Amino acid sequence: MKKGTVVLAFSGGLDTSVCIPLLRERYGYERVVTVAVDVGQPESDIRSATEKGRRFADAHYTIDAKERFVEEYVFPSIQANGSYEGYPLGTALARPLIAEETVAIARANEAKAVAHGCTGKGNDQLRFDFIIRSAGLEVVAPIRELNLTRTWEIEYARKHKIPVTVAKKNPYSVDENCWNRSIEGGRLEDPSFHPPESIYRWTVRPEKAPDTPEELTVCFEAGIPVALDGERMKGIDLVQEMNLRAGRNGVGRNDMIEDRILGLKAREIYEHPAATALITAHADLEHLVLTRNELAFKRGVDDRWSELAYQGLVHEPLFAALNAFIKKTQERVNGTVDLVLYRGSVRVAGRSSPDALYSGDMVSFDSMSLDQGHAEGVSRFHGIQAQMLKKMKER
Ligand code: ARG
Repeated sequence: MKKGTVVLAFSGGLDTSVCIPLLRERYGYERVVTVAVDVGQPESDIRSATEKGRRFADAHYTIDAKERFVEEYVFPSIQANGSYEGYPLGTALARPLIAEETVAIARANEAKAVAHGCTGKGNDQLRFDFIIRSAGLEVVAPIRELNLTRTWEIEYARKHKIPVTVAKKNPYSVDENCWNRSIEGGRLEDPSFHPPESIYRWTVRPEKAPDTPEELTVCFEAGIPVALDGERMKGIDLVQEMNLRAGRNGVGRNDMIEDRILGLKAREIYEHPAATALITAHADLEHLVLTRNELAFKRGVDDRWSELAYQGLVHEPLFAALNAFIKKTQERVNGTVDLVLYRGSVRVAGRSSPDALYSGDMVSFDSMSLDQGHAEGVSRFHGIQAQMLKKMKER
């Protein structure tokens, strides 16, 4: 039976590169189509994926999804203060989009199967598979199914004359989009190993950052950052500018032990300067404009949202419901936040909003506009049951 066409989500890295010949030799597909989805990886990565795809696959597509990624995935994540076990979500946000774009190419090519280069150890396999299966297509995961090791893959690539840049020069697995850079594998798998400075690309070591604080103002509309220092920018430009400015001040690094979906603990290193700065600013502004009730409830919503986003379950109906709640709350998240970036830290220096639920006049110790005497009545009832119990016990 003819197996026809398979469409491969293609990064140009070792795993996906060896998938091309494997899909022909081991799986018997007649046509292998590669798709590289640009979500803000280094231009050189996209260029090399495009060249490799054109050279080794039967057809290749490169799709610029940078703006779509920022508008449809990064912005909602800011509105949800999206983070997992203490770091801003990154890889997890881009996977569904990469999978969706690949599925669209599969449809256009009348392919019944979509392949990816994920291993059976990580989260990405689950995120890809979920989107592919939801689209009614078959999943092909050669690295997982053939139980391949990196050493075997390097040898196999050599035999097929596919250039790979791993090996000694680049011994880590890096995943990058414009919101987050993740580095794992190799010697980093020893949690006690101190990583060399050379693994970092977006952030300087905090101790080496300039000794002068850098200040900047972020303007939000409906929970979305729209301008830096008064200059309105397209989402992707704003994120990239913020990465530059926060990164040069050493903001946005994590070196941590993470609990993956399967339950495995893994040592992960992340860089996310813009994400750290923008989420700090956004969360601060929320405290100025949302009610105490909204804030308390939204904390739980943000956590659930982040968990589903981490799992890649973007079609889960709960995810849509949480998004609707978050969207409603963001209507009033308008205003500006002044940030100070300094040697690995970001702090809020001031904030203002036309929707502030703050009244300087009411809260001020120097103002007479609210009669503080009225609070006495409240204080008589405050904790009245505990007051009674305490007195009874002492009697
Ligand atoms: N552990 C992170 C996550 O699941 C990062 C995964 C990075 N993927 C990679 N292929 N290097 O979101």
